[in-house]
Amino acid sequence: MAADPLAGKVALVTGATGVLCSAMVEALLQAGAKVALFNRRSEAGQALAQRLAAQGLDQTLVVTGDVLDRPSLVAAREAVLARWGKLDVLVNGAGGNHPSGTIPTEQMTPETPYEAGFFGLDLDGFDRVLRLNLHGTLLPTQVFAEAMGPGSSVITISSVAATLPLTKVMAYAAGKAGAENVTRFLAVHFAPLGIRVNAVTPGFFLTEQNRFLLLEQDGQTPTARGGKVMAKTPMRRYGRPEELGGAVVFLASDTASFITGISLPVDGGFLAYSGV
Ligand SMILES: NC(=O)c1ccc[n+]([C@@H]2O[C@H](COP(=O)([O-])OP(=O)(O)OC[C@H]3O[C@@H](n4cnc5c(N)ncnc54)[C@H](OP(=O)(O)O)[C@@H]3O)[C@@H](O)[C@H]2O)c1
Repeated sequence: MAADPLAGKVALVTGATGVLCSAMVEALLQAGAKVALFNRRSEAGQALAQRLAAQGLDQTLVVTGDVLDRPSLVAAREAVLARWGKLDVLVNGAGGNHPSGTIPTEQMTPETPYEAGFFGLDLDGFDRVLRLNLHGTLLPTQVFAEAMGPGSSVITISSVAATLPLTKVMAYAAGKAGAENVTRFLAVHFAPLGIRVNAVTPGFFLTEQNRFLLLEQDGQTPTARGGKVMAKTPMRRYGRPEELGGAVVFLASDTASFITGISLPVDGGFLAYSGV
């Protein structure tokens, strides 16, 4: 790849202030892109922009909004066009799990209490997680891709749960599976427009949204679930946020000009390993 593979490109990252997404933002800036930071809390966006500027990465624009709210997405699109005149890269990063959409037990037995198994699943919680991960990808793509032209690229941040539904996080897995399916649909749909649509599929990265599932309350001891993750990850460690940057920059760049409709795992081998 060239030294500045994204020189001259304008990107927008939803969920930009997240643990993983802020590392992707940094990678995009280092690759030469200008980057709009989109999330709900403006103070978090401003803080990220300031931290990056202190590192000499000052080509950012903070745009506040909700991935489930069309008017705020349209306002963000117009702000980017007013500032930089175009949009080349959309990273659908906003997403995640929530305890309200989680089933507490891994497998049901006749002894499983009603509330702890599938029958006790709270549909409002399920909807909340599904909407963030599926609609929260679809709606921004609908709004931002309208401003994108030939040579541009949409990248959705998925999860290994899209392919292998992880126990407990049913809504999250369903949402990411939907988002990957929409990725392939749009890759076909947009091909004549020259807009490529791909996904990056992180494996396990220890962050706030999954810490309660992977570590005990002392923050150190792996839960039984954390131990299982390690056992099924051939590289035997969690990913580091900065290890996602290369995949995102690659798919955003013209180096990937004939690549559309793929999901690129960054997972230490998790999806390649049956566990046996
Ligand atoms: N962590 C992992 O191990 C892991 C593994 C696989 C996949 N992923 C996926 O990777 C992506 C990035 O994860 P992350 O760890 O960076 O997330 P994170 O640290 O949980 O941060 C979430 C980000 O999304 C924003 N956000 C949440 N809801 C939003 C909404 N409705 N509209 C706009 N912005 C919203 C948050 O900011 P505001 O609250 O200010 O809006 C924040 O910037 C997610 O899609 C996640 O599912 C993570």
